[in-house]
Amino acid sequence: MKLPQKVRIVEVGPRDGLQNEPLIDGHGVPTAIKLELIHRLADAGLPAVEATAFVSPKAIPQMADHTEVLEGVRRKPGVAYPVLTPNMKGLAAALAAGATEVAVFGAASEAFSKRNINCTIAESLERFRPVAEAARKANVKVRGYISCVVGCPYEGEIEPAKVAEVARALDAMGCYEVSLGDTIGVSTPAKTQRMIEAVARAVPIERLAGHYHDTYGQALANIYASLELGVATFDSSVAGLGGCPYAAGASGNVATEDVVYMLHGLGIETGIDLNRVVEIGQWICGVLGREPGSKAGRAIAAKRARAAA
Ligand code: HMG
Ligand code: MG
Repeated sequence: MKLPQKVRIVEVGPRDGLQNEPLIDGHGVPTAIKLELIHRLADAGLPAVEATAFVSPKAIPQMADHTEVLEGVRRKPGVAYPVLTPNMKGLAAALAAGATEVAVFGAASEAFSKRNINCTIAESLERFRPVAEAARKANVKVRGYISCVVGCPYEGEIEPAKVAEVARALDAMGCYEVSLGDTIGVSTPAKTQRMIEAVARAVPIERLAGHYHDTYGQALANIYASLELGVATFDSSVAGLGGCPYAAGASGNVATEDVVYMLHGLGIETGIDLNRVVEIGQWICGVLGREPGSKAGRAIAAKRARAAA
């Protein structure tokens, strides 16, 4: 099969990237920095920038400023700013702050579902249904996530049929897209393809997205394997920031810079200015006091520094 000519990247750095950052002296990353990150990413051509999560501040202290973040976003026409809403409480707060796109997030593993959102998979779907319905009534788009689509930190291997079952339920409640999360980055290309083939029998491939963490360095290979099957939407995080507090040891999402470098090298359009994303990666990592996790980002920045010397 021919690879897609165009790919949509959903930038999840401001949410998935920052949710795991430790608080410093009781404080999260300043709201102004989060807003600058969101604005810079939109200006670099990212068509969707996941802005924050309307979850419990006790569970995820770094997202406690969700209302200020969403209200503070200077919206660029054509850019989506989805936010996580696990239940009606989160949806109500997100709508009050002006959300125009939300995401519910479930899992294909019972143990992960319990730890992450404190309910079983079946209970989570019952919670998501009214969220999706109320969002639709408010003219707000709903995206669905599934975590642990190949492996779970508590249960080990996950059956593709289980992922397909959850995807079918999310699709049936009106999610316009289902994002398939390799939360702990354990998948390899053949496993990714087996899982996608199973899910695509339940939800059309055009409505599937890949969300691959890079813990074992397999995320780009898994994206390529997904492209081969026709998946044309991928989530990524600038500088590879991130992880999930309920997936110990999991590293960040695949770095946006690495994904864009690979896609442009394949002649696939993204609408994203790679050099600008590299600069954003350098900047936010400077603020957070860490090394950028993108190989392409580091190489491009080093080349530029040599040229300027
Ligand atoms: P719960 O304990 O079942 O909820 O939490 P509850 O209804 O019993 O309420 C308990 C407390 O939470 C109450 O406060 C509620 O008001 C509050 P208290 O009376 O104790 O002071 N509460 C809320 N506060 C703010 N916003 C809300 C909300 N709901 C209840 N929406 C809940 C359920 C889901 C809220 C909780 O478990 C939670 O916040 N979990 C955090 C989940 C999370 O954000 N995980 C990380 C994101 S998912 C991810 O990273 C994976 C992904 O990237 C894909 C992948 O990589 O696989 C998407
Ligand atoms: Mg994630």
